[in-house]
Amino acid sequence: MNNFTFYSPTEFVFGRSTESKVGELCKKHGASRVLIVYGGGSVVRSGLLERVKKALAAAGIAFEEMGGVQPNPIDSKVREGIEIARKFKPDFLLPVGGGSVIDTAKAMAVGYYYEGDFWDFYAKKATAVKALPMGVVLTIPAAGSEGSGNSVITNTQSHVKVGIRYPMILRPKFAVMNPELTMTLPQWQTASGVSDMMAHILERYLSNTPDVQIGDRLAEGMLLAIMECAERVMDNPEDYEARANIMWSATVAHNDTCSIGREEDWNSHAMEHEISAEYDVTHGAGLAVIFPAFLQYGAKHNPHKIAQLGHRVFGIVDSGDESIDAMATAIALKTWFHEKLHLPVTFGQLGIPDPDLELLNERLHRLKGEVLQGYMELDATATMEIYKLAL
Ligand code: NZQ
Ligand code: ZN
Repeated sequence: MNNFTFYSPTEFVFGRSTESKVGELCKKHGASRVLIVYGGGSVVRSGLLERVKKALAAAGIAFEEMGGVQPNPIDSKVREGIEIARKFKPDFLLPVGGGSVIDTAKAMAVGYYYEGDFWDFYAKKATAVKALPMGVVLTIPAAGSEGSGNSVITNTQSHVKVGIRYPMILRPKFAVMNPELTMTLPQWQTASGVSDMMAHILERYLSNTPDVQIGDRLAEGMLLAIMECAERVMDNPEDYEARANIMWSATVAHNDTCSIGREEDWNSHAMEHEISAEYDVTHGAGLAVIFPAFLQYGAKHNPHKIAQLGHRVFGIVDSGDESIDAMATAIALKTWFHEKLHLPVTFGQLGIPDPDLELLNERLHRLKGEVLQGYMELDATATMEIYKLAL
């Protein structure tokens, strides 16, 4: 196991009706002026936004709001948010929604104190040292941004979708997580969220660091739990217990618990981000297309952990040949995504019958370098092969 530092200071407040506590939580964490950030309107339609505002008013907290954050959030909205914030002068941000809303708030949080353009942090031209603190009211289990120090934004001019990672200043102070709020999710979003959280676990599982049993066993147990509960939710969207298990899994999948002491991969995510940056597809659905293709390529080039995954999670019987078992694992995951979650598993099913793979691949390597490091070393020929396996 490698040396590690694990810092996860978020206060998680989980369960039915917990959004009613948001006023007192803001106060407890030092807020007196709160800027609420939300998305395209689901929180208005569900009445959640009204309940949040009531809770803030009852705690004597002044607030302003900014709605309209879109999925695959974009740079111009962040700039708009920073402008609103500089006028209102909040001491706390409160994203109410999913990864897109939280990530926009995180970008605003670092941009608020910076004299230049916030994109400098994403372009790695500047390092953020200060951020507005924030709390979160989560409405979709998927990206895990409520417990992570990351934010992913798309630059609409350059079509670059990239992340920043500042766990010391960007992890939310608190996250309110009520599984009941996720019952209004369309099936597509629930399924895409499940695919994303599974990918977050697998990006950490696919590691060449030997002997990190704790990380492997946590990952395998979580994958089994997520798959069982996801099937239950697909059958009965109002199954509270299954929703609750999935919601907490999404957080733990991405708050670094599973990555302690090991190298991580993240190349499937990098490949997917090129797809959602260019074609504006749902991130988790894009991953359901890329991940099985990545595993299929891995079956030939580094099958060990993929075969182990198959043996321990997908019920693949040990044939004595890791490559064969890894290929069976790739197929099992692909089949499960498609049959149980009704997700696309090819570019065509994702609604992109004729993707410009040259463009995606060229942008990928321009951003990430000639050879992507990780579980496997991937040059442009390798990543192109993976993209083609997803056709
Ligand atoms: O915008 P509204 O109207 O709220 O609708 C949203 C949106 O259309 C809807 N939704 C959310 N909660 C709902 C609901 N609809 C009904 N009932 C509810 N309770 O769902 C749609 C998707 O929302 P979004 O916030 O985009 O989902 P998600 O949490 O999957 O976030 C995706 C974004 O996060 C990034 C992705 O790349 C993508 O841009 N990621 C962020 C990460 C991070 N910060 O650590 C890591 C991830 O790997 C990922 O890259
Ligand atoms: Zn993801």
